[in-house]
Amino acid sequence: MAGAIDTERFRLRRFVEKLVDLGECDVHDAPIDLLDVGGALDGNPRAVHFKSAGSEKAELVGNVMGSRRRLAQALDTDERGLLATLNARLKTLHPPVKVSSQRAPVQQVVLKDDDADLTALPVHLQHGADGAPYISAGIDYALFPGSGFTNVGCRRIMLRGPRQAGIDLIAPSDMRAIYLEAAARKEPVPVAYAVGSHPADFLAAMVSLPSVDELNIVGAVRGQPVPVVKCVTSDIYVPADAEYVIEGFLDPAGHVEPEGPYGEYVGYYGVVKRNPLLHVTAITHREDALFQTVTIGGKYLARTDTAQLTTLKTESAAWAALLAAVREPLAVYATPSSGGMYNVRVSLRQRVPGDARNAIAAIFGSHAEAKHVFAFDPDIDVFSDEETDWALATRFQADRDLIVGSGFRVVPLDPSLQGARTGAKLGLDCTIPFGKSDAFEFSIPAPPAVKKTAPHKSAADALAASPASFLELMAALGSKDGREIVRELDTLYAAHRLGRLDDGRYVLKETLPPKGGG
Ligand SMILES: Cc1cc2nc3c(=O)[nH]c(=O)nc-3n(C[C@H](O)[C@H](O)[C@H](O)COP(=O)(O)O)c2cc1C
Repeated sequence: MAGAIDTERFRLRRFVEKLVDLGECDVHDAPIDLLDVGGALDGNPRAVHFKSAGSEKAELVGNVMGSRRRLAQALDTDERGLLATLNARLKTLHPPVKVSSQRAPVQQVVLKDDDADLTALPVHLQHGADGAPYISAGIDYALFPGSGFTNVGCRRIMLRGPRQAGIDLIAPSDMRAIYLEAAARKEPVPVAYAVGSHPADFLAAMVSLPSVDELNIVGAVRGQPVPVVKCVTSDIYVPADAEYVIEGFLDPAGHVEPEGPYGEYVGYYGVVKRNPLLHVTAITHREDALFQTVTIGGKYLARTDTAQLTTLKTESAAWAALLAAVREPLAVYATPSSGGMYNVRVSLRQRVPGDARNAIAAIFGSHAEAKHVFAFDPDIDVFSDEETDWALATRFQADRDLIVGSGFRVVPLDPSLQGARTGAKLGLDCTIPFGKSDAFEFSIPAPPAVKKTAPHKSAADALAASPASFLELMAALGSKDGREIVRELDTLYAAHRLGRLDDGRYVLKETLPPKGGG
């Protein structure tokens, strides 16, 4: 029913308003030069809505997804519930609903040919050594040949001129495969980039499900069908509720155009690479469009949109592998400070010896692409640096619990590879040795909590009834202090009546069976 289609609910601007209400987004009313935008966002724990960016005084928002809390808000859950909520939503795919151009807010303004000018958009230089200003918040939509399914992914765009741009298509991806196939036939690849999208769409773009039209995944993550409109210069359908769409095609000449350097999501610069060229054919947008930028490289990786999004991609791949490998995986967390990918923590309940190692090995071989996997017992909160550090310190023996492997598939951006095409992985089994978790040496001290016991008049009376710990003696004597019991025990020691059992309980010697048995 066309009348029921809501093109506001998943509008980026609505989500930004929610963030402002939650105190998660600063509003920057004063005019700001595009040069200063990067500095205002770098390391900022909040999103920023710039009301007047660049010479056009455009509206621009950045860091929208730069914390797990904000990503969780986008799916109406909390930080710990995010992966489970995402996985649950992915179980119900929603096919998109087509709307006409007239009903598509993103086509309220249509600019074609020379009017489609990338340099009229508020695109800023993000890092000092970047090759040019980048459109960093692009979600690309392209068609698989044959099936006609839509592929969705996040891809950056480096400005090269008003109607030409560089894109990065080096890492293995569906979009790269689509491009290489077309380029081999010398055919251009039509593509459209939404800029200014709800975080649900970004999360969907990070998911790769085989043989599925990924517009259905966008619907799944949103929890309802995405309204889509046909591009004005191609057959691609894009979200009708986006803020901007840049339409164009990838040049079939191949990976020939210098692209970069760029501050990458691993926290370092990526060098200049040869990449395909994008030719822009149209730009469409809402009348009151809100441009978007995402944070990526830099010193504060954990506060970037890219690391936070990558975290979810890693966690969902790791979780899928864990489900296939062990019976009781409990939680998984990819640390955003490792780019959301390299360091992964998992907790599990081991049913049989070796489960933790199987969990580690499963993640090694998965699409999580993690380098370092830490396995923990159920009592360790994988989101807590303190708890995981303590478990590593006290449950792990390097010569027994370390797994090192080499020659694995890698993500080439990792500078520690020094150019190698395969790399090493490390597993750290930080679980308590199997069957030992109830042992006293692994019991966690906690403040005294008194349990009700039968009352006694003296320590000697209480111990005549049964051996007791110091706290049990306090409970039996109704003591709120304890030191008077120490004095009483001292008298019993002096009378040679008091002993200790191996577990530390006090015992009256006269209640012990005679030595030598019998
Ligand atoms: C903000 C952001 C920007 C990204 N930019 C690129 C990029 O420029 N090139 C690339 O290959 N992958 C990039 N990625 C990763 C891909 O979007 C991701 O691997 C995606 O799942 C690929 O989708 P596809 O296999 O359906 O094409 C980016 C991810 C994020 C979160």
